[in-house]
Amino acid sequence: PITPVLLSGGEGSRLWPLSRRSHPKQFVGIGGPLTLFQQAALRFAPGEDGLFAPPVVMTGADFRFMARDQLECAGIAPEAVLIEPVPRNTAPAILAAALLMEARDPGAVLLIAPADHAIPDPAGFRQAVARGLPALATGQIVAFGIAPDRPETGYGYIEAGPLLDNTSDPIAGPRRVLRFVEKPDAARAAEMMQEGRFLWNAGLFLARAADLVAAFRLHAPHCLGPVSAALAGARDDLGFLRLDPASFAAAPSISVDFAVMEKATNLALVPYVGAWSDLGDWNAIWRGQAQDDAGVACHGPAEAIGCRNSLLRAEAGGQVLVGIGLEDMIAVAMPDAVLVAPRARAQEVRHAVAQLRARS
Ligand code: GDD
Ligand code: MG
Repeated sequence: PITPVLLSGGEGSRLWPLSRRSHPKQFVGIGGPLTLFQQAALRFAPGEDGLFAPPVVMTGADFRFMARDQLECAGIAPEAVLIEPVPRNTAPAILAAALLMEARDPGAVLLIAPADHAIPDPAGFRQAVARGLPALATGQIVAFGIAPDRPETGYGYIEAGPLLDNTSDPIAGPRRVLRFVEKPDAARAAEMMQEGRFLWNAGLFLARAADLVAAFRLHAPHCLGPVSAALAGARDDLGFLRLDPASFAAAPSISVDFAVMEKATNLALVPYVGAWSDLGDWNAIWRGQAQDDAGVACHGPAEAIGCRNSLLRAEAGGQVLVGIGLEDMIAVAMPDAVLVAPRARAQEVRHAVAQLRARS
């Protein structure tokens, strides 16, 4: 079985003011009763198909109890919950999980899975994951590709090449990856969309733990020393596995996409045709929410008058939010903070958070 590695240590700053440092987006309910983290855990839970083993959870010290409680409520007993004493982005977190699992089982297979996705058809996605398994025999790292519908700059782009194995399904089978471009600028994103052979990187990676470690050794050797030492010095802390703080702090802060995936030559791709969304910013939330004919999505006590293509979000029992004549806008009212911004600038919310923090 595959061990899911649930990445849930991000801050989700682009979803401020809903997502807070102490309570990031993956642990809050955005629409339904389950948090994004719980949805991710259940999507890849051990089930009748025998595809998945219990997950390894990678998270920050501040979120450890939230993560454990939410897993328990979802009925999932993890293989391990690792605490990153300081945030170092996804590369060091993934390497720590790969080293841990390789030590526990040299043949371990991992599915690196972000905890900020909406995937309405989990069974369909599990099938896509299963289609990637044959590629692991030749040491591939398998990414999952989504057909782009806009020149998004918040995603990675993957250029699909020929089938890895010409006996596999020509539409859904694993393909070679010719190029991986993480978070291009707007012009490059538009070019890649036009070229037609590029898919979005869904952000999940299937690989043998040993092959992931080998890819780090090759492309990001500076991660290996600090993360190995952090794991060697890890201590049990109330049932959590806490990585050694001083060693882990010495790891570079870098995402796996820049550190490894842009450079790896053994990257394969399995296309996924079902609905998929990274609930990364308010624009994505707007897109995923029920809208009226004018493209307006209201949440909570919010009223829109003559608005178009906008999101108005207020909290149940909180202040009433009224928008008049808004076009392509986001308005989010929380008890202690309000955000108003054009949809097209949704990515910049993270800069606002940085600015507020610098001031406080
Ligand atoms: N444990 C841990 N530690 N998790 C982290 C950390 C960390 O330091 N930083 C981020 N994460 C988690 C986030 O909570 C999220 O679940 C996941 O890792 C991915 O991080 P994001 O910050 O959301 O990445 P992204 O969305 O900008 O980009 C990635 O995903 C896109 C698709 O969703 C890239 O892989 C892109 O190429 C991809 O298109
Ligand atoms: Mg994301």
